[in-house]
Amino acid sequence: MISDIAPFALILSILVCLWALSSANKPHIGKLPYPPGPTPSFIWGNRNDLSAPRVWVRYAKWANEQHLVLADLQQEDNHSQFVGRCSRVTRTTVESVATSLRVYGPEWRKHRRIFQQGFKSDSCLEYRPVQTKKMHDMLYGLLRTPDDFKSHVYTYTGAIVLSVMAGYNVVPNNDPYVKLAESLLEAFRAAPMAKWKINMFPILRYIPSWLPGAGFKRYANLIKGQLAQQREFLFKSATAPSVEVEGERTPVVADLLPGCSSDSDVRMLLEAAGSAYTAGTGTTASSILVFFVAMASFPEIQKKAQEEVDRVTGGQRLPEYDDRAHLPYTEAIIREVLRWRPLFPLGLPHASMEDDVYSGYYIPKGSIIYPNVWAMTRDPVKYKDPEIFNPDRFLTETGELIDDEVTYAFGFGRRICPGRHLSSASIWLSAAAILSAFDVERKKDESGCYIPLDVKYVDKGITSHPLSFQCTILPRSEKAVQLILERHAED
Ligand code: HEM
Repeated sequence: MISDIAPFALILSILVCLWALSSANKPHIGKLPYPPGPTPSFIWGNRNDLSAPRVWVRYAKWANEQHLVLADLQQEDNHSQFVGRCSRVTRTTVESVATSLRVYGPEWRKHRRIFQQGFKSDSCLEYRPVQTKKMHDMLYGLLRTPDDFKSHVYTYTGAIVLSVMAGYNVVPNNDPYVKLAESLLEAFRAAPMAKWKINMFPILRYIPSWLPGAGFKRYANLIKGQLAQQREFLFKSATAPSVEVEGERTPVVADLLPGCSSDSDVRMLLEAAGSAYTAGTGTTASSILVFFVAMASFPEIQKKAQEEVDRVTGGQRLPEYDDRAHLPYTEAIIREVLRWRPLFPLGLPHASMEDDVYSGYYIPKGSIIYPNVWAMTRDPVKYKDPEIFNPDRFLTETGELIDDEVTYAFGFGRRICPGRHLSSASIWLSAAAILSAFDVERKKDESGCYIPLDVKYVDKGITSHPLSFQCTILPRSEKAVQLILERHAED
């Protein structure tokens, strides 16, 4: 995948963590220098440099000032050892919350194989009927209660993952699985992991959980209990007699369960299923919400896309997957959504598995590697006026799509997002359907004037996604209403 986006220049911000620096007395490969970086504090090293809001902007600036290593994406091909994850916290506490947090090793490989089987691009074609059904539900929700659009979008993305994984049918409000998974995610988000002393002093893993300073252990126990409930839920759903629906693909868990030869295999499978929900719901939903932001902010772009969709459907039906190849401008909008507001501006950090050399610098084993995805999206050579939302940048003069599929938004190398095909299909279908059926607009004040869109983004840690905003969602025509009601009744 990395070579896919070559020769696109990458700024790889390599931050060598304190524990790696503490190995300074070990012999360096050929006595090479560490990569340059900001001066660490005596006690905490560069820890505070990692936790500023919109820290990716700061890293990009440092990269320009040559504080950090500047590299080219092609070079990272040689660095297959950058596949680990920062391990200390995760190994002792939370790694079973998510495949993405697992350290590189046999268990991660098992998880990865499950995702590979369930979510490779061919398998994803078989999920189209489920995605279409869930899209119809979402349109119906948007028609009935448009102000709850955020909730409808989350229900759509969560319902797809759970149906595909475990044959579970999400109910629109207060779904018990969604409640459980969300409380798990909330606990995960709220945990001050970066501040836990165990990151620096692994020996703390042996202290009793009641001691002051052992918050990470109490947290781990809480998470473990919730994870067990989650696994039970998914198991019940995937083994329910109703799970096989004629003409539809068997859910991933039900499909792979007979091949499990031990309790540990079953546990792995259920963990991967839970992980798919955690990794795939909020991410895909956030991209769709950025699409709403873009459509409400740039009505002329929305209109052009609606005209494209209408040309293909004749305004007489909702879009289908077979239309995708005929809607390049809609596709370009989705690429621009992923580029304009990347959800992981610093990707998910990788870690080096061995001592390594990169561009003449010594990278000790265990270093945390942040690809500065945000800097890639702001490369003025590749993307002229990068702050401007402009789908045309992905089209040739004759209206064909260029090769850049913004795959870097989904990560790199062996740890690239395995859900990217499913997610891309879900985002595309929702965008095309919304364009065909609704106008997304800014709210108006009492005198009928549009109010500027006030979008709050969560810009903390390593993610950036829209938190809250308001917009008006109106059906485009009587025909659109009729189509939504008909499809909903049929399903
Ligand atoms: C717009 C939607 C999505 C975005 C932007 C996204 C982005 C990412 C990124 C940046 C990574 C880290 C890759 C790396 O380490 O280099 C990742 C990992 C992952 N994603 Fe996604 N993702 C999305 C949707 C999904 C979906 C729908 C699923 C599952 C159904 C999923 C499952 C995973 C898993 C399991 C990992 C961990 C992979 C590993 O560590 O080996 N993601 N994703």
